[in-house]
Amino acid sequence: MRTPFIAGNWKMFKTVHEAVVYAKEFRSLVKDVTGVEIVVAPPFLAVHAVAEALRNSNVAVAAQDLYWEREGAFTGAVSAPMIKEAGAEFVIIGHSERRRLFGETDQAVNRKLLAALAANVGPIVCVGETLEEREAGQTLAVLDRQVRAGLDGLTAETVADLVVAYEPVWAIGTGKVATAAQAQEAHAHIRGRLRQWFGAHAADHCHIVYGGSVKPDNIAELIQEPDVDGALVGGASLDVKGFWNIVMKSQHAQGPQGTPGKTGKS
Ligand code: PGA
Repeated sequence: MRTPFIAGNWKMFKTVHEAVVYAKEFRSLVKDVTGVEIVVAPPFLAVHAVAEALRNSNVAVAAQDLYWEREGAFTGAVSAPMIKEAGAEFVIIGHSERRRLFGETDQAVNRKLLAALAANVGPIVCVGETLEEREAGQTLAVLDRQVRAGLDGLTAETVADLVVAYEPVWAIGTGKVATAAQAQEAHAHIRGRLRQWFGAHAADHCHIVYGGSVKPDNIAELIQEPDVDGALVGGASLDVKGFWNIVMKSQHAQGPQGTPGKTGKS
């Protein structure tokens, strides 16, 4: 089965100093954890310092975004080779806040995904419906569109290595978590599409993690669902003990013999 993958998305929180203090405490809290892949995503400025603080630990670092060009006159942008060199093994792409507040389209998500893969950075691609879309019965159609357009041009091999985060927009930062059954339905649907479009190997190996108000007291229930392979945790990852608790509760969720992880650290 798939090794649980737990990533903390710090969003626009923590200065470099605060991020390093967290990283040092966190690495010692999780040092004996096995069977879970653990990732933290600090703001760009802190990626390098956090990667240094977590060097030779079982915690990997992700950036929260990237721009698809390698370099050039793109004021304010950061490229995949830059985050890679700074120490990021992963990058979050297409978060709903990027889509909603910064106008990111499915096509932009696709370009970013291809750029991350070209630089050998592991994408964590976010998809998910708004409340309006869910209430209009469009959830699965929205997921189809986002997955199809976002993953356009990827090979089956790269899809096998991907992390897809299902994050219903109405559950992000609202305290309104999807039920385990709602999460499972969406995850199973996405996995079915991956099977149809990229084949069984890709579908069986791709991690599909849930995001949206994940907390220490709801992670166990979510992660026991067969198609929920972990979590992308926002608010609750800002507190080092809270995030540690989530990691602990995800341990061995898929049974003792997990497949080798993506970070090569678990
Ligand atoms: P939340 O955020 O856990 O604060 O709801 C999740 C996310 O946006 O990735």
